[in-house]
Amino acid sequence: MADMNFGGVIEQVITRDEFPMTKARKVLANETIAILGYGVQGPGQALNLKDNGFNVIIGQRKGTPSWEKAKRDGWVENKDLFELDEASKRGTILAFLLSDAGQLAAWPTVRNNLTQGKALYFSHGFGITFNDQTGIVPPLDVDIILVAPKGSGTSLRRLFQQGKGLNSSFAVHQNATGKGYDRVLALGIGIGSGYLFETSFKKEVYSDLTGERGVLMGAIAGIFEAQYNCLRRNGHSPSEAFNETVEELTQSLMPLVAENGMDWMYANCSTTAQRGALDWRHKFRAAVDPVFDELYQSVVTGKEASITIEAGKHPDYRKKLDKELSGLRESEIWRAGAQVRKLRP
Ligand SMILES: NC(=O)c1ccc[n+]([C@@H]2O[C@H](COP(=O)([O-])OP(=O)(O)OC[C@H]3O[C@@H](n4cnc5c(N)ncnc54)[C@H](OP(=O)(O)O)[C@@H]3O)[C@@H](O)[C@H]2O)c1
Repeated sequence: MADMNFGGVIEQVITRDEFPMTKARKVLANETIAILGYGVQGPGQALNLKDNGFNVIIGQRKGTPSWEKAKRDGWVENKDLFELDEASKRGTILAFLLSDAGQLAAWPTVRNNLTQGKALYFSHGFGITFNDQTGIVPPLDVDIILVAPKGSGTSLRRLFQQGKGLNSSFAVHQNATGKGYDRVLALGIGIGSGYLFETSFKKEVYSDLTGERGVLMGAIAGIFEAQYNCLRRNGHSPSEAFNETVEELTQSLMPLVAENGMDWMYANCSTTAQRGALDWRHKFRAAVDPVFDELYQSVVTGKEASITIEAGKHPDYRKKLDKELSGLRESEIWRAGAQVRKLRP
């Protein structure tokens, strides 16, 4: 591990310098990594591991688009592509990369094949942390490990192909074999992580659920709508309201933040903008602080997990979700957005 200074706080991280690919290959030389689930995260991790020279097989239920996708990606039935049961039998590391709802359904099959000394690998702490609700309680004689890439499986693959990587967190929840750390770090390096930082299953899922309900998705959508509606109530056109709320942020300002930080984005705006933003930043933070506290409590008490699990149980879950998403798409702000996108030069 290397000590690194993050804003004055020292953290230990792992990079390919501390844990080279050659070491990762050695650690996993006698392991069969069964990637269970070929949705979004499954393909990214499986293909990167395979290209890095690891022994990978896929477990996926047959007769669905994901099975066909696996075949298109070069996996061959009965060679390295199997049903979930067969892949879990053959694998020594079982990477549980089904959707969180799918994990509940497939758990009895996987549990059956989770024999002594194997490792159960996750990319999310959900199933284990909320196991009073998910029923995912593994035996004591296996390793339980996690690598959670901080981004989509699609980006994991694309960045790998460009010779770059996504940062990931890692955790060892149960180290039955004593090889848990080596196994998890080798997998983290093998899937193409940038740097790896340590977490626990709980911290991973608490931060992830908070982040996606908060700034990454929920809060940003809510704050976009609030500002857009305020401008519209005061007689501004959709074009003006959308450009001032979304287009300028995504096209001009966030790329500057990504490149060089928030102060640099501020530094590249007018003094009028800087003065106002520096003042109003505190008011907005104070307004949403209590909402974040409420959100975090809803996450740690398991309420968010319960809502998610309940919603996923309904057979028409997809249909209902599509209806809600189309409601978002058909609202004025996002219809205005579609028009603005068309007009981009
Ligand atoms: N999305 C990401 O990029 C991302 C990022 C970080 C971590 N993760 C974590 O990675 C894991 C996988 O996420 P994901 O987004 O890749 O999931 P996903 O795309 O929703 O995964 C779908 C997979 O689960 C299978 N599945 C769903 N329900 C099933 C059932 N009842 N029985 C058997 N198989 C079922 C699907 O098979 P069918 O096609 O046959 O339904 C497909 O293989 C999750 O723990 C997630 O939190 C995901």
